[in-house]
Amino acid sequence: MQDKRRVGILISGRGSNMAALVEASRSDDCPYEVALVASDRPQAAGLTWAADAGIATFAQSPKGMAKAEYEAKIDAALRDAGVEVIALAGYMRLLSDDFVARWRGRIINIHPSLLPKYKGLDTHQRALAAGDAVAGCSVHIVTEELDGGDVLGQAKVAILPDDTAESLAGRVLIEEHRLYPKILAEFVKR
Ligand code: GRF
Repeated sequence: MQDKRRVGILISGRGSNMAALVEASRSDDCPYEVALVASDRPQAAGLTWAADAGIATFAQSPKGMAKAEYEAKIDAALRDAGVEVIALAGYMRLLSDDFVARWRGRIINIHPSLLPKYKGLDTHQRALAAGDAVAGCSVHIVTEELDGGDVLGQAKVAILPDDTAESLAGRVLIEEHRLYPKILAEFVKR
């Protein structure tokens, strides 16, 4: 087996994209392995899934501490696990400029819109309200600007006449699970 690059995944919730990244990492020819799944929410469902899947996990609530102190703990856990690349997967907290600078060019994220359209929240509702014919998802490099770094890959999903934000989100999510492992594999080989 080849030497695999060590990836740390940050989640806040159910972690379906994290699970897709873990599943893909199990193939012998996948160039990355998941060294740690970490969360700002100790109760995140994805942490349980990851632990059951035999992946090391780490949880740290930011409550009652300064952001720098919280991030130092996350940073230490990632470095202790030998993480080289960070994949954000439904991590609902903004990383500080300092954290981004320490991991410059080594953090990627998946966002449920065709960036540069619809940075931030409520992407599907905004695509529907705009009357768009096509929605989708993007994997991008994380910089100090919210959802603003270079786009590494996208997948498109047709918007149907009777779509709701929920139905569209469901179809986009299926594409997220295909896109993210593919782009992460390409990214760690760069
Ligand atoms: C996904 O829609 C992802 O694009 C966005 O947050 C959601 C996370 O879902 N960044 P999950 O936790 O991966 O299931």
